[in-house]
Amino acid sequence: MNNTLTNRFREIYGREAEGLYFAPGRVNLIGEHVDYNGGLVFPCALSFGTYLLAARRDDKKTAFTTLNFDHAATRDESAFTTKPATWEKYPLGVMKEFAAKGFDPWGYDLLFFGDMPNGASLSSSASIEMVTAIMLNDQLGANIDPVELALMSQRAENLFVGMNSGIMDQFASAMGKENHAIALDCATLAFEWVPLAMEGVSVVIANTNKQRKLVDSKYNERRSECEEAARLIARRRPLNALCELSPEEFEALAGEITHPTILRRARHAVTEHARVKEAIVALKGGDLQRFGRLMNESHRSLKEDYEVTGIELDTLAGEAQRLDGVLGSRMTGAGFGGCTVSLVASDAVPSFIATLGERYTRRVGLTADFYIARVGNGARKIENVRQSILC
Ligand code: GLA
Repeated sequence: MNNTLTNRFREIYGREAEGLYFAPGRVNLIGEHVDYNGGLVFPCALSFGTYLLAARRDDKKTAFTTLNFDHAATRDESAFTTKPATWEKYPLGVMKEFAAKGFDPWGYDLLFFGDMPNGASLSSSASIEMVTAIMLNDQLGANIDPVELALMSQRAENLFVGMNSGIMDQFASAMGKENHAIALDCATLAFEWVPLAMEGVSVVIANTNKQRKLVDSKYNERRSECEEAARLIARRRPLNALCELSPEEFEALAGEITHPTILRRARHAVTEHARVKEAIVALKGGDLQRFGRLMNESHRSLKEDYEVTGIELDTLAGEAQRLDGVLGSRMTGAGFGGCTVSLVASDAVPSFIATLGERYTRRVGLTADFYIARVGNGARKIENVRQSILC
């Protein structure tokens, strides 16, 4: 059997696909759990993500197939009111956003394929949402700009999927640029592409391969804790979100927050935001040592104040920070498992992977996977389906 994506589409649906689309995953270099606190984040889009082949069908149903899970479904409009528990809730949420804008998003055969790890904090779900948004935008001739498509995908995640995530993942997937990180102000959506000038240094992602559980509810809990902190401080001074405060302003007002857990959550958000600002200056000035130290501090804050790490992420980041040739290492994404991101001297990468992999397995009993990040462009239609590497 020929396993290329177009052939699989033909085998499954009995006809040719009409369009191929791609949306990348992302790795966040620094700035964790600050997007929903109105701060700056610094992610980049990856070369891997989710591909989607689509063709129109004659009825008002949509068929969802993926090559990544053993589950396919054909749904109609009733799925907007009875949300399925299965993965097609991600594209359905985006379809519902198109419906809310007055478009008819039904009547497609869809085949998804992700060449990235799922549920590993590299935004596989945002890439499914964004690729659906790009596809519908093209098929419907809707002419919606990429930032609005990212916002629609975030609303799909918030309102339909039920995770109150910020805008970082969908924005990075929409607006990624090859060999650039995105300095994104999540309060205003103003952004700047910053060249990843990292001569002789590689961005290495390490996957804990921990089975993540209850991430959505723990994530939503952290978010409410930060909102509570902002509410308490707003009694003393006008404030929309925690990241409007400098660390000094925050410490002066910290007495407003009497609950020690909420105080630590808020302290993470405020100090992380300050670290992102400093890290962007460091990268622009070519000071990768400083960038790396800020990554290490970010991990410590996520471990001690935000409490979203755990033995797996702490072992990968902590052991990495001790190795020769490592400038910095931290967890990336929501946490509770998933991946770390490290800056590693390129000639030290093979020994980094061998030593860290061995120490991780010895201490945690799991096997880590490693990826050397290639930073790619944002979500797009792949015009020449036949020439695509996948087809
Ligand atoms: C998840 C969310 C993002 C962001 C990160 C943490 O990836 O989807 O919006 O909050 O966690 O930085």
